Amino acid sequence: MNKNFWQEQIKLHEKLCFLAPMDGYGDSAYRQAMKRVAPHIYCISEFYSADWLVHSKFLADSVLPHASIEDPVIIQIFGKDPAMFAKAAKIISDPKYNIAGIDVNMWCPAKKVVRSGHGSSLLINEETAFDIVKALDESTHLPITVKTRLSFDGNQDLIKFAQWLQNSGAKLVTIHGRTAKQAYTGNADFTNIYELQRNLDIPVIGNWDVQHFDDGMSKVQNLAGFMIGRKSFWNPWCFIWEQHASANRDLYPEWTFIGGCYQPTLWEMLEAMEFHAAQLVATKGERKGSLEIRKHLVQYIKSFPGVKDYRKRLVTTESIEMTRETINDLRSNFSHLLLKRPGLGEIAQWD
Ligand SMILES: Cc1cc2nc3c(=O)[nH]c(=O)nc-3n(C[C@H](O)[C@H](O)[C@H](O)COP(=O)(O)O)c2cc1C
Repeated sequence: MNKNFWQEQIKLHEKLCFLAPMDGYGDSAYRQAMKRVAPHIYCISEFYSADWLVHSKFLADSVLPHASIEDPVIIQIFGKDPAMFAKAAKIISDPKYNIAGIDVNMWCPAKKVVRSGHGSSLLINEETAFDIVKALDESTHLPITVKTRLSFDGNQDLIKFAQWLQNSGAKLVTIHGRTAKQAYTGNADFTNIYELQRNLDIPVIGNWDVQHFDDGMSKVQNLAGFMIGRKSFWNPWCFIWEQHASANRDLYPEWTFIGGCYQPTLWEMLEAMEFHAAQLVATKGERKGSLEIRKHLVQYIKSFPGVKDYRKRLVTTESIEMTRETINDLRSNFSHLLLKRPGLGEIAQWD
């Protein structure tokens, strides 16, 4: 990878689509689950402390290795000390990890994070924010990106802030269309993000309640791309673009999309669940992986009536064997429904 990575990617794609960084989600297994269905997306990891990465070789060796299907992987880090960022960058840049970029979290609005001088508080500690980007840029060959918000509380100048990030070495910025004070409340504002792109040379990525790929494309306008976060929960299919799918009508017939979003068959959902569970256990071990997969598995089948008992088994799964057994029971007990699409209302009756 090199510093021009993002400029090169922009030439290859009409628009860039990202899996948003999400704590508790964006680990290697989650990224694999998304990329298996949507190989065209770019994945940003959940956030990791720059300080912890420096102090814990165990953490680095747990979170930086990944499967080739995830490439290119961008690692997001947070902190407040430019020197620690520089040290963390050296670790992340070790060729053995094959990481494509480093993203800085200037987004997180959580009180604890802001009080510690991390996350979105960097929007009001501009000098530190710029020093962090400079320190990172000088200590690695990887491109540095920043994810932030419109402002901290509505009183900061986004364009000036982002121009300084650019001058400090940032190669791409992502803007969530809300202030840190708003967290997730109120409607997201895109207009200031479009305006920002008109005032920056580096690409700007929009982040605002995108529902699926088509929705992102319909609002992306002059931006280089968009990001999808929460809508990817249980739903790697949110990244499939109906327009691309039209070139592949055996796999994606027109009628399998509702409002631009692909509606998978029950078979595809069960396959996705099994794949995700297997990767989580493979990357985090039987015990941890089985505990962590519970929240994902129940989301895949959360709105299905008549599968309460299976959901109960999935939220108490303790091993990949138990998970597979439940998924296989779903397969055999609903074998007549496997090619139906729950999202299209094709399964009126589950038993
Ligand atoms: C569970 C969860 C964890 C998140 N963790 C992070 C994080 O580690 N770093 C970050 O920059 N944003 C994080 N975010 C914010 C998302 O990246 C994204 O900005 C936000 O959810 C808005 O995008 P969406 O409307 O597509 O979900 C998180 C969001 C959620 C829901």
